[in-house]
Amino acid sequence: MAAARDIRSPHNNDSHNVSSSLNFSTSPTVSFHSPSSGYAGSIPISRTGPLATAKHLKPFATEDIKVLLLENVNQTGRDILSQQGYQVEFLKSSLPEDQLIEKIKDVHVIGIRSKTKLTARVLKEAKNLIVIGCFCIGTNQVDLQYAADHGIAVFNSPFSNSRSVAELVIAEIIALARQLGDRSNEMHLGTWNKVSNKCWEIRGKTLGIIGYGHIGSQLSVLAEAMGMSVIFYDVVNLMAMGTSKQVPTLEALLAESDFVTCHVPELPETRNMITQKQFEQMKHGSYLINASRGSVVDIPALVHAMRSGKIAGAALDVYPNEPAGNGDYFNDTLNSWSTDLCGLKNLILTPHIGGSTEEAQSAIGVEVAQALVRYVNEGATLGAVNLPEVNLRSLTMDEPSHARVIFIHKNIPGVLRMVNEILGDHNVDKQMTDSRGDVAYLMADISDVDTATIKDLYERLEGLSSRIMTRILY
Ligand SMILES: NC(=O)c1ccc[n+]([C@@H]2O[C@H](COP(=O)([O-])OP(=O)(O)OC[C@H]3O[C@@H](n4cnc5c(N)ncnc54)[C@H](O)[C@@H]3O)[C@@H](O)[C@H]2O)c1
Repeated sequence: MAAARDIRSPHNNDSHNVSSSLNFSTSPTVSFHSPSSGYAGSIPISRTGPLATAKHLKPFATEDIKVLLLENVNQTGRDILSQQGYQVEFLKSSLPEDQLIEKIKDVHVIGIRSKTKLTARVLKEAKNLIVIGCFCIGTNQVDLQYAADHGIAVFNSPFSNSRSVAELVIAEIIALARQLGDRSNEMHLGTWNKVSNKCWEIRGKTLGIIGYGHIGSQLSVLAEAMGMSVIFYDVVNLMAMGTSKQVPTLEALLAESDFVTCHVPELPETRNMITQKQFEQMKHGSYLINASRGSVVDIPALVHAMRSGKIAGAALDVYPNEPAGNGDYFNDTLNSWSTDLCGLKNLILTPHIGGSTEEAQSAIGVEVAQALVRYVNEGATLGAVNLPEVNLRSLTMDEPSHARVIFIHKNIPGVLRMVNEILGDHNVDKQMTDSRGDVAYLMADISDVDTATIKDLYERLEGLSSRIMTRILY
């Protein structure tokens, strides 16, 4: 197939080379490449109506897109990117900074996980880079502001592991109710200790969910299926799943719940959300689970509440300080109360594994790779963490001589007037612009343009002092 090309602006002005063989796309319609997946969020982002066939724009000749994938990115993501015809280089590990700088120089797309630090120093060398995919939840390993200021979009996958966390919490509810951790530890030490005292079924008990977002609401459904009553507290009024009920205050939730589980984000308001006062408000003999963020529960207060018998058991997956790698680091040097905590009975401690499943990794691979493809091929920024979210419905095969202009620019007065003066001689079919901080993102589809016109448009947009990056897809 004849691949369409784009005229784009890398960050340095030396490489503004415009292909001399610009042809309008005659690409046959191909469906968005993605492996089928039951759990991946492969939501079509643009609709063209039942009769129109989406025209898949390719920003570069397929063989020209260079992708560097580090840190053993999941096979699902690798497949999606390779199937697009991009040149994909895959490495199992992260790279030391000097090697990373060398490698990043000529790639258009980089995929990383949490260990690769994309600092301003590294990104400064990435002259062709248009997008970064963080195949993980967090993005603090990337200098997001520097990337935005240079028109480099960053995508991640914040919710692909919600189900995994919800399932872990279900396991923990039963394990705490039956003191499974203690019984198992005893057996490992050769002790047979058959007891039923203070061991419970979970049927009919009340689960109190703090934070009813992606994880909290999944958990709600699973818990009800096992016969629990579910109540939840959230700062937002939310549609309750099943027969669960929202309660008006945290205090009301704590007073009624046999099991309390935290699923709030890390915010100043959620810091030490559960401390001595909240433990006092909980039922005697109730249980606490925290698989959200380590700052949400005050651990010395938990230790006190468990020693007093007020709290019959707890499960923690997250901690105020967590080590960067695996090893024997969970000690008082890391968190001053570690020894006290580890001495408690019916306490399940896990090393932040709530979202760590094969399924979650696979779903992350799909979600991030699809976001990268959409950005490269269509310019859509839906889900970007550092640029405004802008999307236009796809161009169709009925629009063979349309082009999509993407102009990332400084968010200063007068830019739109100047851009529209440049586009004004053409029929602008659709246009959308939005800003985020100092950076604005404009997308416009213009009709009936030929190669010479595209070249002219590109050069005039590049000439604007507000320009950060120009891309034209067709
Ligand atoms: N243990 C793990 O491996 C793991 C994996 C994924 C996510 N997490 C953590 O789980 C938490 C929840 O994730 P999510 O994907 O469900 O998030 P989400 O954003 O979908 O939901 C969070 C909910 O908390 C509510 N909320 C915010 N502030 C609140 C407050 N002060 N009081 C009550 N409710 C409040 C929000 O309105 C929202 O409904 C996050 O902290 C996330 O980092 C942990």
